[in-house]
Amino acid sequence: MQALIEQIEHKYQSLGQDPETYLKGLLHTRPLTYWDYIQVDTLLSLQHPRTHFPDEMVFIVYHQVTELLLKLVRHELDQLTSGPLAAAEIFEEKTQRLVRYTRLLSMSFSIMNQGMSREEYNQFRLALAPASGFQSAQFRYIELQCTPLEHLIPPSRRAEARPDMTLREKFQLVYWQDAGYDRATGVKSLTLQQFEDHYLASFVELARRMERDNLYLRYLALAQQGKDTDALRSALRLFDYTFNVSWPLVHLQTAHTYLGSGHEQTAATGGSHWEKYLHPKYQKRIFFPALWSEEERARWGEIEVSA
Ligand code: HEM
Repeated sequence: MQALIEQIEHKYQSLGQDPETYLKGLLHTRPLTYWDYIQVDTLLSLQHPRTHFPDEMVFIVYHQVTELLLKLVRHELDQLTSGPLAAAEIFEEKTQRLVRYTRLLSMSFSIMNQGMSREEYNQFRLALAPASGFQSAQFRYIELQCTPLEHLIPPSRRAEARPDMTLREKFQLVYWQDAGYDRATGVKSLTLQQFEDHYLASFVELARRMERDNLYLRYLALAQQGKDTDALRSALRLFDYTFNVSWPLVHLQTAHTYLGSGHEQTAATGGSHWEKYLHPKYQKRIFFPALWSEEERARWGEIEVSA
């Protein structure tokens, strides 16, 4: 106990503070509770349905769960893409965490696909236009932390990305513009316009910070030093596949469930030609291309691969 008190004294003295003030403060603080620490009341006060359909609550809460898990993905990515290059074991351990979070998202998507009444969904969603999950910025932050901006430009359009272009100009070529940018008329959907007004500056800023430090380049640096391992490569492949193929496919399947397909297809709240746009084989979003064979890349989203 004496040693502990001395450590406390040392801690506050080295901060130029009087240790006694802090020790007395301890006498008065209330013991911590679960609800204060986890902020349960605040968390449970954040669901505000816009209609009276009970299933809208399922929709809101599941989106919030997704955003929280994406926050964990970003938490790991922040650590991997800043400071000194992590050792291969740490890199792998953290990539395994990314896999776990992303897998949970992919596996739990049945809460959307099977867990709401189709009739209710198609009523309450009309009250949500023009909002769309497309406007989830965390998905875009994750992409920018994982791979160079050039990899988010569809292969068919990469030749248009000239070296003298600003980052902001390059953003007009990324695959997600296809959700709402009509290149023939130059018109953007309201969903896309609002998204860019709110977030584009932060995307450009992050892309700039990640130019030399994104996860893919950091992995390549490790590999160049001969320090990468089979376990790391396979963890990165699994993360790439789960985030960029498995999740998009269950998400697309869900759009089919609720919005129909073929002639019965219903317009999405974000107004995209979603059936084509959402398919991973069109998006060709691959974070770590060097880890995939030419055939695997060519048939991305069309064949199951053992990641
Ligand atoms: C019934 C459930 C859902 C349906 C029917 C659905 C449908 C759609 C559609 C049609 C789009 C295309 C953009 C548009 O025109 O709106 C889209 C995009 C998107 N949605 Fe969903 N969605 C559902 C649930 C979710 C959930 C739970 C999330 C999690 C945050 C989410 C995240 C996204 C993202 C990130 C995009 C953009 C995808 C990309 O750019 O690759 N969606 N969704």
